[in-house]
Amino acid sequence: MTASSTPSSAVTAGANKRRIFVTTALPYANGKFHLGHMMEYIQADIWVRFQRMQGHEVHWMCADDTHGAPIMIAAEKAGKTPQEFVAEIAATRKDYLDGFHLSIDNWHSTDSPENTELAQDIYRKLKAAGFIATRTIEQFFDPVKSMFLPDRYIKGECPKCGAKDQYGDSCENCGAVYAPTDLKNPYSTLSGATPEMRSSEHFFFKLSDPQCVEFLRGWTEGLDAHGKKRLQSEIIAKTKEWLGEDGKLGDWDISRDAPYFGIPIPDAPGKYFYVWLDAPVGYLASLKNYFDSGKAAHNGETRSLADFLADPNTEQIHFIGKDIVYFHVLFWPAMLKFAGYKVPDSVNVHGFITVGGEKMSKSRGTGIDPLKYLQIGMNPEWLRYYIAAKLNANVEDVDFTAEDFMARVNSDLIGKFVNIASRTAGFLQKHFDGRIFERQAVVSAGVGEDLAGLAADLAELYEARDFGKVVRRVMEAADFVNGYYDTSKPWELAKRAPQDEAARVQLHVVCTVVVESFRILATYLAPILPRLASEAFAFLNLPAQQWRDIHEPLKAGHKVSPYKHLMSRVEEKQLDELFGLLPDASAPAKAERPAKPQPAAKGAASSNAAAKTAASGPQADGFISIDDFAKVDLRIAKIVNAELVEGSDKLLRLTLDVGETNESGQPRTRNVFSGIKSAYAPESLIGQHTVLVANLAPRKMKFGVSEGMVLAASAKDDHNDAGLYLLNPHAGARAGMKVT
Ligand code: 2FM
Ligand code: ZN
Repeated sequence: MTASSTPSSAVTAGANKRRIFVTTALPYANGKFHLGHMMEYIQADIWVRFQRMQGHEVHWMCADDTHGAPIMIAAEKAGKTPQEFVAEIAATRKDYLDGFHLSIDNWHSTDSPENTELAQDIYRKLKAAGFIATRTIEQFFDPVKSMFLPDRYIKGECPKCGAKDQYGDSCENCGAVYAPTDLKNPYSTLSGATPEMRSSEHFFFKLSDPQCVEFLRGWTEGLDAHGKKRLQSEIIAKTKEWLGEDGKLGDWDISRDAPYFGIPIPDAPGKYFYVWLDAPVGYLASLKNYFDSGKAAHNGETRSLADFLADPNTEQIHFIGKDIVYFHVLFWPAMLKFAGYKVPDSVNVHGFITVGGEKMSKSRGTGIDPLKYLQIGMNPEWLRYYIAAKLNANVEDVDFTAEDFMARVNSDLIGKFVNIASRTAGFLQKHFDGRIFERQAVVSAGVGEDLAGLAADLAELYEARDFGKVVRRVMEAADFVNGYYDTSKPWELAKRAPQDEAARVQLHVVCTVVVESFRILATYLAPILPRLASEAFAFLNLPAQQWRDIHEPLKAGHKVSPYKHLMSRVEEKQLDELFGLLPDASAPAKAERPAKPQPAAKGAASSNAAAKTAASGPQADGFISIDDFAKVDLRIAKIVNAELVEGSDKLLRLTLDVGETNESGQPRTRNVFSGIKSAYAPESLIGQHTVLVANLAPRKMKFGVSEGMVLAASAKDDHNDAGLYLLNPHAGARAGMKVT
């Protein structure tokens, strides 16, 4: 994409109207949104808003991904039905979506009649076309829970090194990779029972059929409706690897046995679709619900869903993260193709968002909580701008750092762009009653014309999701406008204006040029900053601007409204509060701990976050109640890795298994920094068990986020150093056990 490239017909104002069905990945309904979700939605929202500004018709669908074993088990643990459980999560979505100005047209659920109907229809068609096979497989069964166990719920001893409590796929101690059936003394993590091998008939989607590979080869390397590659080059390379030279995919196991929270497989009692079969069908289910409920008609679409999907000009575009590519570029298009449905036009893949270089995770509570961001009054458009500034069209991770965030918002967005309006508005009101110059030639020519000349390039960049470049170009343009303002010295012209007509005219010209420039820049940024743009247009006394309006200068003598403050600067203390470095007045319950650590078993982590929170402290008699003690969640942790921390004299970085799984049900570990370097060589700790304060607020440190505190005994004071001793449970204690 270069400045000289010809704009495609897709982005030229007035060209054929596009009809686009956009989706973003359906989030699992077992947890609240994290920053990664917001990044994907913001990316899609910018693209969607840009397309709408072009006059295209866009229908953006999303839904909760509700099915599967992890949600069923989480619901059971919470004492709820799966339906109640997912409904509670669904009720949390609106605050985020509205809060970050996300223009999703319909939010639905995979646990819906539409999804059942569509998933079963796709299955029936695949079956009729000969793409479904059945096979009997052997699998572990939990006799206490009466259910087959997904691999992630089986643990045992490593078949190679004998390490205890290893997951069913690989050993964290020696790195061996194996099948769950290879584990010695396996046990179910759900009940502790020894699982039994049982056989069961499973249903498979025959991806090994040569027609599948042939189709996928063509589709993955194919072009979209506008002659552009439908997949990014990194993704095409991956699919080549997966499809291989002599291409053969394994059949995909699409069934699960009862009990399972999912969609029943037709004519197969006790069998359900595996969650990943019905999840992407949820895109279509949301679209069907949107049409059936009349919302599509309100959004300008008058045809039936069948006609909409049958139209070869309807584009189906998915936005997803890099972790779910396999499902979206192999399984999903193949399912659709061989069931006779429309196949996707493109799949846009983004990387992950890290915070201060650390991978974030919702279940760890690390990173940034988007709702807290809003609750403490931070402007959602700061985040939209920041994410836009960091995104490009490649599959690259984006890192959020507090310093960078502040600099980009305060120096660039406010210092360069918002300032353009605020510094001019006063002169215009005071000297010209808010009216711009009376001669159209002045309004239309010069700086404004130059800026409008960027429209085609910026449209190409938006179309390609190269938002970082959009922001850079617009900020360069803002620099140019500010340079014009500074060299024109309107403050001096304003002093002379009352007596000097030439100075007054010159001042009027400068204000006019700057206001017209602001209009163009605000229009360019509108997909990224919809609220700010709408307030800017209100100040300019204009309706919402479309992309083609860039070339429609303000009319001579146009009157702008009195200027209202458009955006505040980010303050450091807001970021401190966001990262939990300040007492959080809005937090409903805090871990209450004495401000001063007690001497006996003292926390060896450097975290003092708890000490920063308001502490209730022990009662006057020095005792705490059992309820106070119960607030501290002590867990057995297995040290799966320990290493030195570069740049720290005191800390070791510990990787701890506390028997937890992440939002997708995969095992996850915690990162804890502990001030025990003086007492232990890191390698001596690997494989040991210890005790973790598991509900200590995560603390962002210079080296990363510390997610808890391991306990150690010490009697160290100024006069006496008796050493530091990590607590170590008796043999038999397993990772995740509660210490009571
Ligand atoms: O990875 C996830 O969060 C899945 N819930 C995404 C599903 S996307 C689509 F297939 F539904
Ligand atoms: Zn091992």
